[in-house]
Amino acid sequence: MLRSPNIFIFAGNVMNRIESKQQLAEDVYRMQVEAPLIARERLPGQFVIVQLDNDYGERIPLTIADADPEGGTISLIFQAVGKTTHKLAERNPGDTIESVLGPLGKPTHIEKFGTVVCVGGGIGVAPLYPIAKGMKAAGNRLVVIMGARTQALLILEEEMRRIADELIVCTDDGSYGRKSLVTDPLKEVCTRVPKPDLAVAIGPPVMMKFCSEATRPHSVPTVVSLNTIMIDGTGMCGGCRVTVGGKTRFVCVDGPEFDGHQVDFDNMIQRLKSYKKIEDEAHRRCHMDMALEARGRAS
Ligand code: FAD
Ligand code: FES
Ligand code: MG
Repeated sequence: MLRSPNIFIFAGNVMNRIESKQQLAEDVYRMQVEAPLIARERLPGQFVIVQLDNDYGERIPLTIADADPEGGTISLIFQAVGKTTHKLAERNPGDTIESVLGPLGKPTHIEKFGTVVCVGGGIGVAPLYPIAKGMKAAGNRLVVIMGARTQALLILEEEMRRIADELIVCTDDGSYGRKSLVTDPLKEVCTRVPKPDLAVAIGPPVMMKFCSEATRPHSVPTVVSLNTIMIDGTGMCGGCRVTVGGKTRFVCVDGPEFDGHQVDFDNMIQRLKSYKKIEDEAHRRCHMDMALEARGRAS
């Protein structure tokens, strides 16, 4: 067990077996993974760093979407977007993951604020769910706004419907729910009397930027969960640095949640593109390897 600046980190001595796998939407999967110590300790808002194979495998952060402390498992919900997430999507129940490190990051500050509006875009609905659940359990009135490009990409609608006092579903193309971006209903909710006491927005950086701009004129405090590039997850490599209120912060240990009105989103978006060419090349090669493997199995 390691001691990071604000948390205990469990790793290493458990073969993290995949207990179940379910496809939730196009390229979106939920996996229950054996990780008993993490399942016992984790709190809403925290994440793990997953390494699929060995010391040379890429390390990727994924939010702990849910946990079963008795069963000793955590749930990860991920979208296959590149090499490592596609390789993870190929794994099945019974397979193992080399290392699952966590729980990392500061837990969400949960208390009874009054009315909390939770806004999730795309895969951002997955990290939002445990926070929304925690806010509801603390006695808040919960308004959930969730959106995706199209109906096929919507996830966790039923789960959110079960906990929300009010649920607004949007799609960019109007294939389901309201045809709008999540920022439109968010602006409307902010003009209500009384206005919400807190907004929590999780999704693509551009979405979080515009949600923060939507709440700013109404002075609704807004929490965002930042998805910067991460490597070690313990505050030592500097890969996840962002500027918040003019100061440098490390998302892995100071976050992942920050005051959306203080985040320099443009700088963060720029930094996220740093390795795009290398990531795309790795993804292309990975596809070729998988195709060759499949051909080898067929012959
Ligand atoms: P690549 O093709 O390598 O990268 C695709 C894009 O993902 C990149 O352009 C970059 O924006 C981002 N990315 C790449 N490598 C990393 C890295 N090491 N760390 C962070 N971002 C990276 N995704 C989910 O689907 N579900 C989640 O619950 C989830 N939780 C996250 C929690 C945190 C705290 C952070 C920081 C990110 C989270 N992500 C989540 C994003 C996820 O880590 C990336 O989608 C994943 O790393 C992509 O890896 P890849 O090799 O498949 O794709
Ligand atoms: Fe290395 Fe945060 S991931 S400092
Ligand atoms: Mg990658």
